[in-house]
Amino acid sequence: MQRHLISAADLTRDDAVLILDTAEEMARVADRPIKKLPTLRGRTIVNLFFEDSTRTRISFEAAEKRLSADVINFTAKGSSVSKGESLKDTAQTLEAMGVDAVVIRHGASGAPYRLANSGWIDAAVINAGDGTHQHPTQALLDAFTMRRRLVGRDAGLGQDLSGRRITVVGDVLHSRVARSNVDLLHTLGAEVTLVAPPTLVPVGVEAWPCEVSYDLDSTLPKCDAVMMLRVQRERMNAAFFPTEREYSRRYGLDGDRMAKLPEHAIVMHPGPMVRGMEITAEVADSDRCTAVEQVANGVSIRMAVLYLLLGGNEPAVSHARTNEEK
Ligand code: NCD
Repeated sequence: MQRHLISAADLTRDDAVLILDTAEEMARVADRPIKKLPTLRGRTIVNLFFEDSTRTRISFEAAEKRLSADVINFTAKGSSVSKGESLKDTAQTLEAMGVDAVVIRHGASGAPYRLANSGWIDAAVINAGDGTHQHPTQALLDAFTMRRRLVGRDAGLGQDLSGRRITVVGDVLHSRVARSNVDLLHTLGAEVTLVAPPTLVPVGVEAWPCEVSYDLDSTLPKCDAVMMLRVQRERMNAAFFPTEREYSRRYGLDGDRMAKLPEHAIVMHPGPMVRGMEITAEVADSDRCTAVEQVANGVSIRMAVLYLLLGGNEPAVSHARTNEEK
């Protein structure tokens, strides 16, 4: 594994399977009365959030605390960034405080890469979402959720997602979740189909390792999981579709469309959901929708990533067998 986690495309199949397997160990800690491991005691992790976040920020913080790290939360609003301070100066301030890892979310694609390769800091850098580029821990928690649901919790250990068919629907153009998922799912052997209005399909998508379709209804009966994306209005500077009603009618998931899925198929959403737009309340609240489960799985995945990047050779969970013993 590399020292930083910037892009899902940087992970090999074995790296990804190791993270998913380690996350299964971590998930067991969540079932204990005391949900804490001493693994990262004495290590300092900064959560550097320049962009809004609910799930990702809380989930990283929970993961860090469960591994006993010291946690510093930094949000751009209310900090000296509002006074014009640059990423470099912010990074050097953190370095002066001696941090071991920086979890960064930034509106500019490439900011985590810049931070990791700048020489400004020594710490491990974990990308928690940069612009429309990448969100690797989201793709990992999605793959973890798919493996558990489609292969099985124990049966899944050591396995990838070979031959599984995943459909990703909606605002692909602005979605770092879609990009990260296409990269990781391809590495894990799954077949990905993107479904979106032509205006929300990125230029150059032909080079991505996936299919593209404009017809949701014909894709649904053939997939094992369908992932709905939010329409990211905050990143839009033009009109990409006529009306919200028109968008929902063609690309939204309602009860009638969900009935077209094979019986075993799951409905996923990274959150935040806009009920009534890309997904109806009926689907969001149904047993087939894994949105809440994805949030819980996010904590296990982030614990696994932090442990593998920072924990070194200590076993993550004391009763657990190490990988060499398996
Ligand atoms: C996504 C994000 O921020 O990229 N959410 C998340 O991390 N759970 C998707 C979105 O904002 O729609």
